[in-house]
Amino acid sequence: MKIELCKDIEKFDVEVILVKNLKSLEKDLKNVLKNLGFSAEEGSSIFLNDLKKMFVGTNKLKDEDLKITLSQVIKEIKKYKFKKVKISLIQEKELDLKTLVEGLILGEYTFDKYKSKKNKFKCEVLIDIEDSIKTSEQLVLELENTKTICKSVNLTRDIVNTTPEDYYPKTMAKTARKIAFKNDLECKIYGEKYLKKNGMNAMHAVGRASRHESQLIHLTYKPKNSKGKVVLVGKGLTYDSGGLSLKSGTGMISMKCDKSGGSAVLGIMNALKYLEYPYEVHGIVGAVENMIGGDAYKPDDVLIAKNGTTIEVRNTDAEGRLVLADCLCYAQDEIKDIDYIFDMATLTGACIVALGEYTTGVMGHSEKLKKKILKASNESGELVGFLPYNRYLPSLLQSGVADITNAASSRAGGAITASMFLDKFIKKENKNKWLHLDIAGAAYKEKAWGYNAFGGSGAGVRLILNFIKNLK
Ligand code: BES
Ligand code: ZN
Ligand code: ZN
Repeated sequence: MKIELCKDIEKFDVEVILVKNLKSLEKDLKNVLKNLGFSAEEGSSIFLNDLKKMFVGTNKLKDEDLKITLSQVIKEIKKYKFKKVKISLIQEKELDLKTLVEGLILGEYTFDKYKSKKNKFKCEVLIDIEDSIKTSEQLVLELENTKTICKSVNLTRDIVNTTPEDYYPKTMAKTARKIAFKNDLECKIYGEKYLKKNGMNAMHAVGRASRHESQLIHLTYKPKNSKGKVVLVGKGLTYDSGGLSLKSGTGMISMKCDKSGGSAVLGIMNALKYLEYPYEVHGIVGAVENMIGGDAYKPDDVLIAKNGTTIEVRNTDAEGRLVLADCLCYAQDEIKDIDYIFDMATLTGACIVALGEYTTGVMGHSEKLKKKILKASNESGELVGFLPYNRYLPSLLQSGVADITNAASSRAGGAITASMFLDKFIKKENKNKWLHLDIAGAAYKEKAWGYNAFGGSGAGVRLILNFIKNLK
């Protein structure tokens, strides 16, 4: 879909008009619409062929409601096969361009790589900016930045939706190389030999039974006058069968989504150069496949992580924290003077139980940092909920044979104990700089929701880009 800003648009197939209620329309038109049964109810729409106008009812002309409405509009337009669409930025009041464009681009997304019939229809949206109170320069910048962000969300969605047969650790490394090349990023990629040599035994163990070699990916965006350093660590389980603690048949369905954290990191790294953010950003992804086989790691094994912590494996399905543990150690060993360090992972089913399917669970020590993420959540529209630590839960991770176990002795509070496990791998000086984001719910759904299609949502991309944008 092409989106352009214009003034005096004369040629178009259809004009989209968002109406709060019929009162704002002129009498004749109001009567026509009334007679056709259109009452401007939220989400309802009507197309008047003679006038080439599509009226869309919406009481709330802002934020997420507007995005959802626009996602419905664009689907409708594609259904009717209109090629040129006019939308005026000034409706009853000026719409927020970013919101409008996000609704259109994110709402238009479909994943048809594996469908025999592809939807090739493309339309052009002309946004009439006549009478906007903003300058053309401001609006163009806003449009282009929003396009960049949405493209990166859709890139993340594509990665997540690709099958484990087609997308394995080396594929993820290939994507990272491509992103690095396109955006002038530094790119380091390491295989299993490096993991073994550098004591990353926890990450190495998880991928041992797979026919696909694990990959440690490290991308760096270095702007000229950097004001600080942000480190992002993503769980990139290209498939999670559960390992020897095998998942059930239904539990395994959709576990291609277990690379969502790493995919979000790649999406974010793909946007930074264009957005010209003045922060150095490191994107680290542990790309691994958790499988079964003669060489699989086992419950009862004790693994020594990169920072020397010994881990008793009690459940091979709690593999994400093992991969992240070593990746977090790698990040803190390799990168000095970190200002912020976030990990993103589809880490626990317990997080979905705690917060529901749509909300990212955020955990960490710093209330100040959580407030910053909350601001980014409100601005981006990505939902977050905070899960609290307490003094009693860490004992659930006690092990009889090692320093810690990878599976807590109770399922209760599972999202929090998983985060407490990761905390063992955060250096003292970084405790208040770190947040753990459990995106198990928000990252993937086998149904469409809001302006998200079936499958990957790109959770984390807009949230973190918004966070970085807000840094002073
Ligand atoms: N990848 C899963 C978590 C998950 C569940 C993501 C549902 C997306 C949707 C993770 O590796 C896992 O299996 N976690 C276990 C941990 C348990 C064994 C301690 C879980 O949540 O049950
Ligand atoms: Zn698992
Ligand atoms: Zn997993």
